[in-house]
Amino acid sequence: MSDSKRFSGKVAVVTGAAGNIGLATALRLAREGARIALMDVDEGKLAATLPKFEALDAEARTYPFDVTDPGAVSRAIGEVVQAFGGIDLLFNNAGYQGAFTPIQDYPEDDFERVLKINLCGAFYVLKACARQMMTQGGGAIVNTASMAGIGGPPNMLGYASSKFGIVGLTQTASKDLAPHKIRVNAISPGLMGPGFMWDRQVELQAKAGSQYFSSDPKEVAQQMIGSVPMRRYGDIEEIPGVVSFLLSDDASYLTGVNIPISGGIL
Ligand SMILES: NC(=O)c1ccc[n+]([C@@H]2O[C@H](COP(=O)([O-])OP(=O)(O)OC[C@H]3O[C@@H](n4cnc5c(N)ncnc54)[C@H](O)[C@@H]3O)[C@@H](O)[C@H]2O)c1
Repeated sequence: MSDSKRFSGKVAVVTGAAGNIGLATALRLAREGARIALMDVDEGKLAATLPKFEALDAEARTYPFDVTDPGAVSRAIGEVVQAFGGIDLLFNNAGYQGAFTPIQDYPEDDFERVLKINLCGAFYVLKACARQMMTQGGGAIVNTASMAGIGGPPNMLGYASSKFGIVGLTQTASKDLAPHKIRVNAISPGLMGPGFMWDRQVELQAKAGSQYFSSDPKEVAQQMIGSVPMRRYGDIEEIPGVVSFLLSDDASYLTGVNIPISGGIL
């Protein structure tokens, strides 16, 4: 845990801020001095995060809205600029895992929903923040991709497609925005646990009944951990430091990269 205040006075937007990775990262950025705009569709969960920022004596405001609505995104970003005076950093992280089933059974409506949240939503937020950063002469952005967007795991068609999309979004946006002194990078968490996402994927991979995993969730957990060179899942707390690094001036010559946080899976 860093006790530097390298983001003192900077304004950071965090989406998916009521979730595990978003909240842990928002708290890390707040500890490092950033003023935080917390965004999530889950209004109740989002409001419940505020005491954690108060305890740090950090400035934080909540913006409940759905990232799939470009009008709502643009309104929320406008409100952030009004309240904070600008936007310097973005952790573009809201996401949804979608269904676990082979392509022949994969539901069209779920595929569209996953793409809408994970990819279109990330595009809308990135575009709105980048336009603001351009007026300020620069900024730094980190998108949350996934190892599913590198390897294409079985039974996760919507999720993998959306996260491959995030890698493309990151690479092209990094080139388009380099002339504006805005860096755009991504992180790719692998198997993170314990918690809801871990339990859900272990259970749903078991239920999907494919040749790749056992039908017993306990065995699926072992199979997954056995595929990790470090032979353990990652802790959520192993993510915020990497995001903070990418958003900081220590990463001033890094743009367009996607860092795996995966215990050695590449
Ligand atoms: N946990 C993992 O194992 C893991 C691994 C790789 C990548 N990721 C990615 O990390 C990111 C964060 O995941 P997490 O583990 O914290 O999950 P989480 O479910 O705890 O958090 C995701 C947050 O996104 C919000 N969200 C969902 N749809 C939204 C929408 N339409 N508009 C606004 N907010 C919305 C949810 O309300 C939730 O608070 C996601 O992009 C996810 O795909 C997670």
